[in-house]
Amino acid sequence: MTIAVLGGAGYIGSHTVARLVEAGEDVIVIDNLVTGHKGAINPKARFYQGDVRDRDFLRSVFKQEQVDGIVHFAASSIVPESMRDPLKYFDNNTYGMIALLEVMNEFNVKNIVFSSTAATYGEPKQVPIKETDPQVPTNPYGESKLAMEKIMHWSDVAYGIKFVALRYFNVAGAMPDGSIGEDHNPETHLIPIILQVAAGTRDNLQIFGDDYPTKDGTNVRDYVHVVDLADAHILAMKYLQDGHDSTAFNLGSATGFSNLEILEAARKVTEKEIPASIGPRRAGDPSTLIAASDKARDILHWQPAFDNIDDIIATAWKWHETHPEGFGDH
Ligand code: UFG
Repeated sequence: MTIAVLGGAGYIGSHTVARLVEAGEDVIVIDNLVTGHKGAINPKARFYQGDVRDRDFLRSVFKQEQVDGIVHFAASSIVPESMRDPLKYFDNNTYGMIALLEVMNEFNVKNIVFSSTAATYGEPKQVPIKETDPQVPTNPYGESKLAMEKIMHWSDVAYGIKFVALRYFNVAGAMPDGSIGEDHNPETHLIPIILQVAAGTRDNLQIFGDDYPTKDGTNVRDYVHVVDLADAHILAMKYLQDGHDSTAFNLGSATGFSNLEILEAARKVTEKEIPASIGPRRAGDPSTLIAASDKARDILHWQPAFDNIDDIIATAWKWHETHPEGFGDH
């Protein structure tokens, strides 16, 4: 069977492609290379360059390939950018999902594993967050992905397209052999920014806000290693292929680290000083996000291999030290 990975040249997509290929699957990568990287495309996957919103492009790929399942990462995912440019998010993400589902329906492709997000929950009333908790996004990014979940739900009811929505918390780390890793331009995520400062490719690090109601006043997040996250997609595809019903799973570690704790851990792992200052809050940031991931562990039998933040940061550090310019295509 052939699995199409949309956004397979991006950070999480490329790690998932690598794990699928290692598992012996036949994989095609679909990516418009707007944020993805040529250098991240797995040489064992067939590559089609194009946009998820382009129905004719999708049709041409589905005509050439016998696609059995979709893993969908092709979306914009930067919270602060979505606050400034919400329509980009509803166009690229939400409208893109409509085009994809239409073409999937035309070609009778019935399974999709979807990159959803903790941002669909907004500011939680309680942590850890369960899948059944209210979804009230505080930013357009989360809103665009919540709409995508709902569109998939109604497409299941009407057309029988089954989905798994994987609601990621914070993702970090890189392939342990250092072959692929995180490379965004501009980079907005905490761990890569900290490591760029450690590597000397960035001058300054600001921690956004220290007056939140948390242990040290900085935001608390739940970090998962990108390879563990990739493996959850493979389990989710198997779950759908086994004929199970559409559903959503949180993917997190059930442990929260404050931004200052992450900084301290990075100082320890890199043995660098990593100067930092405290800045104002960033718009759209929830105070604390921690996942209850029991459902993924019970039903998908998902067992993250990286359960220690130092190990997660160490794999990201190996990537940054060996690839100070990322994939070198900026
Ligand atoms: N942060 C800083 N300084 C920086 C960058 C980030 O203090 O230079 C802080 C943020 O304010 C936040 C924490 O580090 O408190 C983590 O921020 P990231 O940008 O790394 O990640 P987010 O939590 O904003 O977002 C991530 C994913 C989203 C996902 C979200 C869940 O990138 O796709 O988790 O809310 F939706």
